[in-house]
Amino acid sequence: MGLERDVTGLLKTIEKLHGIQDLHLLLERSLHEARTFLNADAGTIYLKERGKLYFRFIENDTLFKNGAEDNKHLYYSSSIEISMDSVAGFVAKKGEPLMIDDVYDLPVDVSYHFNPEFDKKSKYRTKSLLVVPIKSSSGQIHGVIQLINAKDDSGEIQPFSGMDRIYLSYFAQSAAQAIERAYLSRDMVLRMVEMVALRDPFETINHATRVGEFALELYDRYADARDVSSTERYVKKDIFRTAAMLHDVGKFGVEDQLMNREGPLSDEEKSKVYLHTIYGARLFQNNQSLYDRVAHEVALNHHERWDGRGYPGKYRESNTGEIHFGTGKKGEEIPLSSRIVSICDVFDTLIMRRAYKDPWDVDSALHYIRSKAGKQFDPELVDLFVNMKEIILAIIANHPVLE
Ligand SMILES: [Fe+2]
Ligand SMILES: [Fe+2]
Repeated sequence: MGLERDVTGLLKTIEKLHGIQDLHLLLERSLHEARTFLNADAGTIYLKERGKLYFRFIENDTLFKNGAEDNKHLYYSSSIEISMDSVAGFVAKKGEPLMIDDVYDLPVDVSYHFNPEFDKKSKYRTKSLLVVPIKSSSGQIHGVIQLINAKDDSGEIQPFSGMDRIYLSYFAQSAAQAIERAYLSRDMVLRMVEMVALRDPFETINHATRVGEFALELYDRYADARDVSSTERYVKKDIFRTAAMLHDVGKFGVEDQLMNREGPLSDEEKSKVYLHTIYGARLFQNNQSLYDRVAHEVALNHHERWDGRGYPGKYRESNTGEIHFGTGKKGEEIPLSSRIVSICDVFDTLIMRRAYKDPWDVDSALHYIRSKAGKQFDPELVDLFVNMKEIILAIIANHPVLE
């Protein structure tokens, strides 16, 4: 390809990237496409969180050939200071790109150093670098994207060019937009939960947050047990958490008086409460992104039961918009995300005070969950859940159950 890079191809790629809603997926794709387009051997993305840069995505043709991607997980938690000392820190601090022909032969008058730790640990030889800030249009720095070892057509390492820098800046720009969208939607999620709390004072932010955290942990354990790849896991974890937090968002459409009534409800009243599953699912029915699909699944199916006796089941809607509940979904007909959230939601409801019940202690609630394995809940997930008591306690300590 040489200097004559395919600019039409670039524009098409960036357009495609704009269609991805999920932040992690988008960053991962941006890195991959940028690296492929500029023919670089490796690349990383750092995101700025709590005033530091965190290693978030890594691709390396030499180190991580097919199947070796689990190594990537090792680097996710490492962070660096935003200061003039390191290459990425320098770029994040100055907000300007940096091009280095050989990191082991830096000019004497620069403030930054190259950290050889990664090379040493992995026996990799980093040579040329192109590092650009992920900067929003208002000038805010969200992170850094770094490409390593540009290759010529024969695979020889060479310096990056001025054009490469311009191209990579385009990718960084679309990454910045995606990050800002993601922050916006994170705030929107919390506002939606607050709106539900207006209807049902027991659906608090803390309840939603705990259910989200339990679900995240339970999915992680399931992924371990089933050998789910680290990339898939990284993408899905965040989605599962958000979707779990929004499980009861459809309660906004149900009358206040029904929600926390003591004493039994009539059949008609029950159906009105059941409708919160369908109302919630409607909010995400576009199914544009993985995020929409999972949030839809969870809202719709979090009251289905493993034994098929849950609701709303395979319902249908008549022409006049009337809803007829159907036979319950059963076993693995119920999506994994919903089987997970159903356990977490019931558990958390047990340990909370409700208008109709006192709070239970954690052991009794876990005992109850265990007793419903194979009836209300997926038995495999129940096993994993009752074994995560320590983490459950830590999550409750961080997001207390208010009496
Ligand atoms: Fe619900
Ligand atoms: Fe709930």
